[in-house]
Amino acid sequence: MGELRFHAATLDDAAFAADVWTAARPSAPVDPVVKRYWWATPSETYVSERYVVTRGGERIGFALVDHVRWDGPGPRYVSLRGDLLPEVRTAARLDELLAGLEVKGRATGATVLRTKAVEDDPLRESVVRGRGYREDRRSRRWELDLVGNRARILALAEESRERMRRAGIELCTLAAIAEPSKYEQVWRVGDEAARDIPTTEPHPDESLEDYLQWLRSPDTREDRFWVARREGRIVGLSVLSYPPVRGIVNTSYTATARSVRGLGVARATKGETLVQAIGLGVDRVRTGNDAQNAPILHINAAMGYRPIAGAIEFMKDAG
Ligand SMILES: CC(C)(COP(=O)(O)OP(=O)(O)OC[C@H]1O[C@@H](n2cnc3c(N)ncnc32)[C@H](O)[C@@H]1OP(=O)(O)O)[C@@H](O)C(=O)NCCC(=O)NCCS
Repeated sequence: MGELRFHAATLDDAAFAADVWTAARPSAPVDPVVKRYWWATPSETYVSERYVVTRGGERIGFALVDHVRWDGPGPRYVSLRGDLLPEVRTAARLDELLAGLEVKGRATGATVLRTKAVEDDPLRESVVRGRGYREDRRSRRWELDLVGNRARILALAEESRERMRRAGIELCTLAAIAEPSKYEQVWRVGDEAARDIPTTEPHPDESLEDYLQWLRSPDTREDRFWVARREGRIVGLSVLSYPPVRGIVNTSYTATARSVRGLGVARATKGETLVQAIGLGVDRVRTGNDAQNAPILHINAAMGYRPIAGAIEFMKDAG
């Protein structure tokens, strides 16, 4: 019997989980309001279990078990996440945390356990590897200095606007579109594109209702949600999330319809999000993508983003 105990979390524990996350990794602060929103929002796509972790009666961490609602054949992946406050975050306790998560993960009926470590967190990485996980893939994280790159970004955005004008493609925010069908249109573009993101676990079918929950989250605003339209139909989108309490402004998604790929629509919509962020006085933004996602890696590098520590994704058989 180890020293950590898992207790089912309540909604009020979301802010604590965000605090632990932030304390464990101050370079990537987590917003408590956004966390609470997601904990409070039921999903048609995912099943989530959340725990507060205690030691000797003290709250010292949190643990999360998430998986897609399973139907049909194929591997059943479960994602195991959690962290501990810095003062108790030793290799032995992270190991015990992960061991506890694995018990919960197996109990879901999963066949494959997944977990992550950030590239600048060797302590967690060695614990994960020590528990027999193998590296599956990496994601790249990037940061763009909007102060130092201001002039370049504005010039690139102007070039993109001209290119879009020539191609007959309109750039605007979702808020500027009156038609109610706009939500279904962005959902369809986003869903088609999500199937082209390199991944090990297949992209799940996401309902319009779940998509709208993402769109309504407290860090997302329709007047900061950029879209491209051709002949009145939405063909691309790029969205920066603005955490209301703490955190770094971050691209939550960039996607274009397959029918317009290579025309500069992603550069143009992403460019508009950056120009808007500059106007709002934001000094830097982050973005992330799979390490095999060649087009977006190219776009990020061309826009001046600099690599920061990404995530290593691990997996092992649940058996
Ligand atoms: C990534 C994505 C948004 C790019 O959309 P797009 O409209 O084709 O992008 P653009 O036309 O603005 O720019 C594409 C750039 O990538 C380059 N590119 C395309 N395929 C490439 C490849 N295999 N290797 C390197 N560069 C590539 C293009 O040459 C172009 O660069 P350029 O402007 O310097 O010529 C689109 O492919 C997509 O929706 N993918 C699925 C969703 C996704 O991966 N989103 C991003 C991560 S969350």
